Amino acid sequence: MVKGIILAGGAGSRLYPLTLVASKQLQPVYDKPMVYYPLTTLIENGVRELCLIATPADLPRFRQLLGDGAAWGLSIEYLAQAKPAGIAQAFLIAASFIGSDPVTLILGDNIFYGADGFKRAFADFQDGASIFGYRVHDPERYGVVEFDSEGRALSIQEKPSQPRSNHAVPGLYLYDNQVVEITKNLRPSERGELEITDVNVAYLRRGQLRVHQLSRGFAWLDAGTSSSLHEASAYVQTIEKRQGIKIGCPEEAAFRRGFMSRDELEKQTAQMPNCEYRDYLHRVLAEAAR
Ligand code: DAU
Repeated sequence: MVKGIILAGGAGSRLYPLTLVASKQLQPVYDKPMVYYPLTTLIENGVRELCLIATPADLPRFRQLLGDGAAWGLSIEYLAQAKPAGIAQAFLIAASFIGSDPVTLILGDNIFYGADGFKRAFADFQDGASIFGYRVHDPERYGVVEFDSEGRALSIQEKPSQPRSNHAVPGLYLYDNQVVEITKNLRPSERGELEITDVNVAYLRRGQLRVHQLSRGFAWLDAGTSSSLHEASAYVQTIEKRQGIKIGCPEEAAFRRGFMSRDELEKQTAQMPNCEYRDYLHRVLAEAAR
């Protein structure tokens, strides 16, 4: 079974002063805390053994929000990252959680929405690494993947000043168990971080990297700055109002995935205050009964 890591640490300095009292991944994206979105993405893809990594100061608040996951048919462990020493450090912090299993890592400020975006990659995954390519207009802000004429990855570079393509690598990665050993052998980059891009380059060199292209209709938003946070909220509000659905609702995803029963979901909604979120889950239950 693929285990899941949600990386929700970092200084959050770009959102200051919002992040003085609550970390970035606890901020609202329209009607839910940001971390609900990546959590839901993992649940939708069948991941139920999870570990959340955050700063020592923020961990208690995440625990208060998500608990041990049992209510949603999940298990959630919590691990601290003392300093933001790079995304790939997550694999060292979580080495014993990963054990001998494959693992998927999702960044706590990445929001994905769209039908079955990662489904095939998760279903087909056996070994090596699977990452994704997504067309953006400003690739220099991201990890950038270059393809040959047959769609095979040729190179991956972290925030290149002269990007070789428009394909950014979003913050969801799938790795076999080699990732722990690969990360142990990484050296920090010039900015002093263990780079996720270097992990991907190592897999590429081993001939074990697969890059799945995400389709045009799929949405990838990151919510790391004040304006991208605002845009993500506006996007979620637009879709939710138009379609009468919710994006990033872990209870719904866990229920649809069969991780939690109707009875369990009913019990949970009974404990919620009278609110729009509860009304929505009642509608999910009623529609499922038809
Ligand atoms: O969003 C996708 C991009 O994420 C990728 O395309 C890049 O290859 C990857 O390096 C990363 O770029 P960012 O510039 O967005 O990385 P940032 O340092 O902002 O970290 C992303 C999130 O991970 C952020 O919400 C905080 C968290 N983080 C980051 C570091 C470096 C941690 O929890 N611990 C860390 O040590």
